[in-house]
Amino acid sequence: MKATELLKPANAEEAASLDKIDLKRLPQHVAVIMDGNGRWAQRRHLPRIAGHRAGVKAAREIIETCARLKLSYLTLYAFSLENWRRPQAEVDFLMRLLREYLKRELPSIHKNNIRLLVIGRSEQLPEAVRKDIEQGMRMTARNTGMKLVVALNYGGRAELVDAFNAMLEQVRSNGLSAFQADEQTVSEHLYTAGLPDPDLLIRTSGEMRVSNFLLWQIAYAEIYVTETLWPDFSCARLLEALVDFQKRERRYGGLNASQAPATSSKSAKRSRWTGRG
Ligand code: FPP
Repeated sequence: MKATELLKPANAEEAASLDKIDLKRLPQHVAVIMDGNGRWAQRRHLPRIAGHRAGVKAAREIIETCARLKLSYLTLYAFSLENWRRPQAEVDFLMRLLREYLKRELPSIHKNNIRLLVIGRSEQLPEAVRKDIEQGMRMTARNTGMKLVVALNYGGRAELVDAFNAMLEQVRSNGLSAFQADEQTVSEHLYTAGLPDPDLLIRTSGEMRVSNFLLWQIAYAEIYVTETLWPDFSCARLLEALVDFQKRERRYGGLNASQAPATSSKSAKRSRWTGRG
């Protein structure tokens, strides 16, 4: 099948990228650090919140494009543990925006067979946000299409700390004196247990940082950094990133392109996505 059978190009630029895309070699899991909403607004002499509103529009376009291309997993970094340091008014606005987004978009997410998952310390989110998230996850729980993973109140180090504590708890409560963790065990205790590691990590707005995002999981991810600010990150820009990804040779430390190491959490027995409410 050709990519143009899944996605109708809106312009010549999209058509050219779609022509180059090999559907058989698409990344299974794309993770995105959506950065640059504030700078987008600043350049237009608008308040930062206008940048976040425009950021939601970009998120909608990217989610739709990934779903049409039949990507299996898309993870979006929407709110980090560090984001609480922003002015209270901005934090409140981001929480309201998220609720507004869920209210407006859930029906179409559901209709498109997308399953919503949330990772992070969601127990520390405002109750109203938690309830909306739980409702969204319940509503889409049986959907079999793309998994849309939203990282909310997420921090990569905090995730590792939570995983270590969960393992310690198991050892204590089961008296497992001979317990030894390996990479598979750690993967199975992360919020992302059961999800494959990202193949492609996209960061917008030019910063060369991973900002405490999926620290364990991105061990072998291809990293794509673009100067484009998140609100301008359109379908065309995503296709460009996918074309670039397909040019990379993934070697996982070996000499040839080969299979990912067996430690990604593909075969994890249980999942904690919904277990943090
Ligand atoms: C970064 O811009 C973006 C965020 C803090 C996350 C908020 C993301 C959105 C509103 C997009 C919508 C997502 C969903 C899932 C509905 P920034 O404020 O850090 O930009 P700056 O670095 O230019 O100040």
